[in-house]
Amino acid sequence: MSATKLKILKGYDFHCHFRRPVVKTAVELTAECFCGAVAMGNTDPPIAIADDALLYEREIRAALPFGCAFQPIMTIMLTKMTTPQIVIDAARRGIKVVKYIPEGVSVNSKESVALEKLSDYFPVLEAMQENDMVFSGHWESLHDSKGRELEELDREEAAIPFLDKVVKTFPTLRIVAEHASTKKLIDYVRQSPLNLRATLTMHHALLTFCNVCSEPGVITNPYNYCKPIAKTEEDRQAVERAMVSGDPHFFPGSDMAPHPLSAKQKIPPVAGIFCPGKIFVPLMLEIFLANNALQNLSNFYENFGAEFYGLPKSLESLELTQEDWTVPPEYDGIVPFMAGQTLHWKVAD
Ligand code: NCD
Ligand code: ZN
Ligand code: ZN
Repeated sequence: MSATKLKILKGYDFHCHFRRPVVKTAVELTAECFCGAVAMGNTDPPIAIADDALLYEREIRAALPFGCAFQPIMTIMLTKMTTPQIVIDAARRGIKVVKYIPEGVSVNSKESVALEKLSDYFPVLEAMQENDMVFSGHWESLHDSKGRELEELDREEAAIPFLDKVVKTFPTLRIVAEHASTKKLIDYVRQSPLNLRATLTMHHALLTFCNVCSEPGVITNPYNYCKPIAKTEEDRQAVERAMVSGDPHFFPGSDMAPHPLSAKQKIPPVAGIFCPGKIFVPLMLEIFLANNALQNLSNFYENFGAEFYGLPKSLESLELTQEDWTVPPEYDGIVPFMAGQTLHWKVAD
């Protein structure tokens, strides 16, 4: 390995949205840098049963370049209609993940179960636990314990008691706290048993609230706007530290969420940051280098998540070169994270 080149094995992206009408672009950009990805099912309508997931998998595979070994990891959504039987059927047919967004909390979640009602669905979670599925969730609460509506900044912390109840009730269920964005959630995950993990994004390791909003509710940069919203400098540092720490509780999930310009430019904009692998991987490398933590990169990127999910390690490698390049203004009409900015490492073509 020279200072200007780095070869690493491809890892998985444990949080992706392959959204119409840009499924092909999103899949291609992901497959360039990852050997597989969890394809979140919050489409409209949602991926609710195994049949939906298997059809969606065909659509994703059809978008892959010829001969590409990329592995889509399929999900079904926890909706108000989900039963233990639906979960058992999905598990038998190879679906690995049940994805949860509490009702009304993020994109395409109106058919989801409200966080306050989650315990009504514990028989469904029991079926996940018995059938060895992963329960991957977006942990934010719209309300505090007295029912008052919360600012976006406070929603993740308010969901921790609900997550804790799941963790305590299902000690062998594999649970993921997606896109952890607060020191509170990071600390909670770190001290939890290893059946709870968290995925981390690059944007939460790099942005704070002032890169998104001028004040609560006033979004000044819609391309940096996602749920959960970027928070304080202390929270940002907690994400960065967890990422480079070598702690197996944490692994990558880009939350690559493409939305068309029209949806990003309306007020309020739709939530979602488009950070495909080409951008995610160089940013990740820069963060590990800046923290003198290169020795922990392969565990974060290649190992911890794959081991937790029981997935094979990739045989393909990825080459990065130390070379400045400018993130393009768009990919297929979608404005990416860091558009127009210079990154110092590049995924070799
Ligand atoms: C995601 C999307 O667009 O589906 N948006 C986001 O802001 N993160 C949904 C999600 O992961 O919450
Ligand atoms: Zn989410
Ligand atoms: Zn997401």
